[in-house]
Amino acid sequence: MIKSMSKKLKSKNIMEETRKELTPSQIVGELNKFIIGQHEAKRAVAIALRNRWRRQLIQDNLREEILPNNIILIGPTGVGKTEIARRLAKLANAPFLKVEASKFTEVGYVGRDVESMIRDLTDISVNMVKLEKTNEVKAKADELAEEKILDILIPPVKKSVGITHPQEGQNDTNNEEYQNKKTREWMRAKLKNGEMDDKMIEFDSTAQSSFGMQVLGPFGMDDMGINIQEIMGNMMPKKKKKRKTSIAEARNLITQEEAQKLIDMEQVQKEAIQRVENTGIVFIDEIDKVASSGSKTQGPDVSREGVQRDLLPIVEGSNVNTKYGVVRTDHVLFIASGAFHVAKPSDLIPELQGRFPIRVELRSLTEDDFVQILTTPENALLKQYCALLATEGVKLEFTKDAIREVAKIATEVNEQVENIGARRLHTILTTLLDEILFDVPDKMPPDKVIIDAKMVTDKLDSIVKNRDLSKFIL
Ligand SMILES: Nc1ncnc2c1ncn2[C@@H]1O[C@H](COP(=O)(O)OP(=O)(O)OP(=O)(O)O)[C@@H](O)[C@H]1O
Ligand SMILES: [Mg+2]
Repeated sequence: MIKSMSKKLKSKNIMEETRKELTPSQIVGELNKFIIGQHEAKRAVAIALRNRWRRQLIQDNLREEILPNNIILIGPTGVGKTEIARRLAKLANAPFLKVEASKFTEVGYVGRDVESMIRDLTDISVNMVKLEKTNEVKAKADELAEEKILDILIPPVKKSVGITHPQEGQNDTNNEEYQNKKTREWMRAKLKNGEMDDKMIEFDSTAQSSFGMQVLGPFGMDDMGINIQEIMGNMMPKKKKKRKTSIAEARNLITQEEAQKLIDMEQVQKEAIQRVENTGIVFIDEIDKVASSGSKTQGPDVSREGVQRDLLPIVEGSNVNTKYGVVRTDHVLFIASGAFHVAKPSDLIPELQGRFPIRVELRSLTEDDFVQILTTPENALLKQYCALLATEGVKLEFTKDAIREVAKIATEVNEQVENIGARRLHTILTTLLDEILFDVPDKMPPDKVIIDAKMVTDKLDSIVKNRDLSKFIL
């Protein structure tokens, strides 16, 4: 009996553990809510994410042997490459950084060095953890802030009254204390229900003003992970400053200050580094831009290859100094992406190719995809426009035919002018809805607005037919 119970408990624990980490099919399921098609890419990132977790459970010596599943997403512009990576990071609640490979230069040249991506990722992680911790202590900080404001409004009775009035008896003090307490409670109720929000109050603020403190360090200091501002900030005594604001604002400010005091920044930094090391995701966009395009010319190519070489150790796993401490990049997941129109993945230096063992191609989007993208994702474009107009009390509806027509036009323009993928839908919709977006609320439609196929063709056909015009407008 006991045995079976403990067995049950154990299996429950394991289940809870695994529930936190989504399974590959769950990850794909979640991605499906936002991204249409591109099944192969979704599968690849789902496996990579799960594999990283699996790898962490393996014994040390074997674990080191298993290469991380870094991925290259190959596909034309606007088909969901960045979107997949971004959503993935959200799902995993992981620190996520998107960088453009073309922004980096080889060490020694003017420009950002590749290590800065890890420093930026760590910054993001620290902010993430800090926000979480702040939310955890929010209730407590709120309470403390309330107490502080009460102290200002109704200062507590000093226990040392005895010194000034040695003759007087205990009773008076007790009485005074009792009265004070009662008034405080009365005031507390008023504070709580917001009655006092607009009243002004003066209080001591210890928050350092962020203005006038912008200290610019010598060039490159920031890149070395040294934050002059922070050093200066710590050196300067924390000056108390009298401020006068409404009680509502004071409450906000004091709550923030109290929350700051309650969280242990050292702990935050430690956790942030751990999170980067174990769950961080770096998305390197435009990786094809640092691939040499075959021709063996001198010049910029030298520096491009240098960037690739600088990338190697970071992708493979090395230690990077950040202002919060050393960060190991062994388990950071790297997802590279590029259109690879001119250069091919094989134009990357072989060592780098080896570090991105998984390659996935994303396809161009079709008319049917566009219909789906317009309507089904949780943040679907049409839903966005409906929500925008709903704020002004206007109900917007699209007929099925109208949606089909928009998708058709998007495909047409993509074929004729330039394929910019799903981004085309944005330009088409802004053109289509231009009038209503401008008119509301000055000229309100009498009834709900229904967009049908005819309206779509009336508004857009002439532009689509005229290639030159569509180049500019759509
Ligand atoms: N398959 C898709 N499903 C839903 N929305 C998509 C899809 N593809 C693209 N989008 C939408 O189109 C826009 C651009 O997509 P995204 O940023 O992912 O393009 P990309 O593939 O990274 O292109 P680029 O190579 O130019 O960076 C986003 O707003 C995204 O929501
Ligand atoms: Mg992109």
